[in-house]
Amino acid sequence: MTSSDWLWWRDGAIYHVYLRSFADSNGDGLGDLPGLIDRLDYLNGTRDSLGVDAIWLSPCFPSPDKDFGYDVADFNAIDPRYGTLADFDRLIAEAHRRGIRVLLDLVYNHTSDQHLWFLESRSSRQSPRRDWYVWRDGRPGGGPPNNWQSVFGGRAWTWDEATRQFYYHMFLREQPDLNWHNPDVRRALSDATRFWLDRGVDGFRLDVFNAWYEHPDYPDNPTKLGLRGFDRQHHIYDVDRPEMHPALAEFRSLLNSYPERASVGELFGADPARAASYCNDHGLHMVFNFEFSYRAWDPEAFCTSIESAERHLGADAWPCYVLSNHDLSRHVSRYGGDHPAEVARVAATLLLTQRGTPFLYYGEEIGLPDVPLRRSQIVDPPGRRYWPLYKGRDPNRGPMQWDSGPNAGFTTGTPWLPVRLDYAELNAAAQQGDARSVWSFYRDLMRLRRLTPALRRGAFERLSRPSHQGLAYLRASPGQQALIALNFRSTPVRLTFQHPVDSSGWSLGVAAHPERAARLSPGEIDLGAFQAAVFVRSG
Ligand code: GLC
Repeated sequence: MTSSDWLWWRDGAIYHVYLRSFADSNGDGLGDLPGLIDRLDYLNGTRDSLGVDAIWLSPCFPSPDKDFGYDVADFNAIDPRYGTLADFDRLIAEAHRRGIRVLLDLVYNHTSDQHLWFLESRSSRQSPRRDWYVWRDGRPGGGPPNNWQSVFGGRAWTWDEATRQFYYHMFLREQPDLNWHNPDVRRALSDATRFWLDRGVDGFRLDVFNAWYEHPDYPDNPTKLGLRGFDRQHHIYDVDRPEMHPALAEFRSLLNSYPERASVGELFGADPARAASYCNDHGLHMVFNFEFSYRAWDPEAFCTSIESAERHLGADAWPCYVLSNHDLSRHVSRYGGDHPAEVARVAATLLLTQRGTPFLYYGEEIGLPDVPLRRSQIVDPPGRRYWPLYKGRDPNRGPMQWDSGPNAGFTTGTPWLPVRLDYAELNAAAQQGDARSVWSFYRDLMRLRRLTPALRRGAFERLSRPSHQGLAYLRASPGQQALIALNFRSTPVRLTFQHPVDSSGWSLGVAAHPERAARLSPGEIDLGAFQAAVFVRSG
């Protein structure tokens, strides 16, 4: 591979900025666009940057915040709390100047109930926009049209007394679903997409894209056992409808009419086969396969997910991997136990050495754990509803810990969620100045990945025999090979190989612990506690 083969979304690393928690420039306790612009050097463009190639920005559109930005009230504007369109244009220019691409988060399954479209739709049955949303009569006797459930709890249908019909919402009642069967809706959404493309946006993350369409007859979903109402159904009529494929093809051809634009879809549900079915030249560039993110801290489990992604996607479709995001407990909290910083390094190596685009979640580069919160501090709707069974997503959305100043340098005001108590020690500035920190390890790994074609594009091949303690694999591309060996646990391990490797000519690219063992021989490798090592060799 030559450097001209470089394609940002395939070969780069993408960093997820949860805007409200990233950097606050005006002291209102919410992160914003000027705050993000001030921190771009942290991400790329200088010798001391982390080295990310793109950012995915959580929704920054006007929103009543019932679902913290995922209830959009206007697709073509910036929420004034985050800045202005001029700030947004400046973000694009400043990001591009540093080699950072920008992806926006498009929430096209639903809008806010305060979106003008819904206000009009709701105003009367005769409204020209009535059919922009999903309105149905109740069943004889007055019940909702079918048994569908909301992801966030309760029925997926809300009765509108004024117009005497139900409307459908897969999420909150304040998030009515758009009617994708209506061509005017599709046109309006395409216009919104074009609006951002014309401003220089490089791509999009599509929120719950496979839920855009419902079966036009709205039949009951078959039921099954499960904890929450939503889990007690097979989602065959409200998710993954066949109309998705032509809709994505249309979306893709719009993207293709601009150079080097890319898309990643959030698949609702974790299913590698379904994820792969949307990932092609007429669909999306990448689809999150959350099976990987849901795994227990067990090398066999991760390896199974990697092999299954490889199998389902084949040679032509491109994988992507993620361990943490704004909907999931942070992986150091899930996996870290008594050794969060050690686990963070092993997990980083796993994530950044796959054949597939790595998505990082802000703060994971310093090993930031979830914020512990009391019941009274929870603001996320599913957390409020299901506490203590489920504490919601606030803990994993805490403020970025920049430095040891007040509020970890995130804000001069009162942060919208509390900062963790450990910020005086656990912060980006401290780690940037420490060559042995988790941050420095991420930076070194990303550098190595950028310089090593085998790490970006090489084929994945499992090398070690089954083990619940560690994993070794090869990444082979023409003319170059990488060998990655990971010890997931706090005791040393010897991993034996399924077939011998030529153990000469390898050079150590990075190691989580240079002073601990990473001894390679033809049939095995010895690894110290939580060792994670990447070897590279040409030929
Ligand atoms: C996606 C988002 C999540 C949001 C939901 C509804 O799953 O990632 O944060 O609550 O869609 O828009």
